[in-house]
Amino acid sequence: MILTVTPNPSLDRTYELPDLVRGTVLRATADRVDPGGKGVNVSRAVAAAGHRTVAVAPMGGPEGALLARLLGEHGIEAAGVPVTGSTRINVTLVEPDSTLTKINATGPELSAAEAEDVLEAVRTRSASADWIACCGSLPRGLPPQWYAELVARSHRAGARIALDTSGAALTAALREGPDVIKPNAQELAEAVGRPLATVGDALKAAEELRERGAGAVLASLGADGQLLVEASGAYFATARVATVRSNVGAGDASLAGFLTAGGQGPGALVSAVAHGAAAVQLAGSLMPTPADLDPSAVALSTDVPRDRPLTEPAP
Ligand SMILES: Nc1ncnc2c1ncn2[C@@H]1O[C@H](COP(=O)(O)OP(=O)(O)OP(=O)(O)O)[C@@H](O)[C@H]1O
Ligand SMILES: [Mg+2]
Repeated sequence: MILTVTPNPSLDRTYELPDLVRGTVLRATADRVDPGGKGVNVSRAVAAAGHRTVAVAPMGGPEGALLARLLGEHGIEAAGVPVTGSTRINVTLVEPDSTLTKINATGPELSAAEAEDVLEAVRTRSASADWIACCGSLPRGLPPQWYAELVARSHRAGARIALDTSGAALTAALREGPDVIKPNAQELAEAVGRPLATVGDALKAAEELRERGAGAVLASLGADGQLLVEASGAYFATARVATVRSNVGAGDASLAGFLTAGGQGPGALVSAVAHGAAAVQLAGSLMPTPADLDPSAVALSTDVPRDRPLTEPAP
């Protein structure tokens, strides 16, 4: 079972519009609502792959109740932690040429007691979890050390932790030794405080984060693929993709692919890249099913191509 933790989940409402004109009443031609948030996305990908997953998240108000129901419809066990504030609604506007305009709400502020309730909800379920994936930014009310505390407590309970976050929440958690972290190029560059121009720069940065405490680093480098740096060595994998439809949630799909394939070694890296490549070929934040995956399109190298320039260098 893969347990996910999403401290600031959302209901993601998407409106399709014939035209986006400021200052007018816009009529949507279609609309839908999906469960959202980074850990929730990982759960959606794990469930789509046919594995058991439990999603821990604060849930409040009628929006929180709807989130729990939608998770159930996706085959995800919702472990909602009741909170006073209402779960946020994020809005995406889609134009006919696929241009996306997003409005992300801040989300409710959690009290100290609610923050503790979330940690407790994780603890009571950690014994049956193969991995605990903690993903996304922290809502108001949670201190930057909150993930560090979660990692420390989960390790005491004997669980393995995958952490996908950024900024102070990431750097503070490193000292507690998360088993794997999954920064993208931007997050990796920010964590080491210098730009990344080549795969070699990303390798050096990942090695530095291991020295600062991460057990393994799975760095996702957008179109360039992914780099895994762990105790057994460093590996690089990339996949050819004919048409990119949407990269939303590709990183979350990758992390799910990595964890469902065991969470270590080159085989798990190939699964991560196969999931990322499949995710970008699907619309919106749709998560790949096994039929969407093509691991044979993934090229794995045990000799990391250090000199290869990144298509999208991280400033
Ligand atoms: N343009 C692309 N072409 C091919 N593969 C891609 C492309 N963009 C992303 N991918 C695949 O998806 C993986 C994850 O993408 P990315 O590094 O952008 O993650 P991310 O920024 O964490 O995404 P998110 O947080 O939105 O889920 C990449 O490592 C790669 O395997
Ligand atoms: Mg990401």
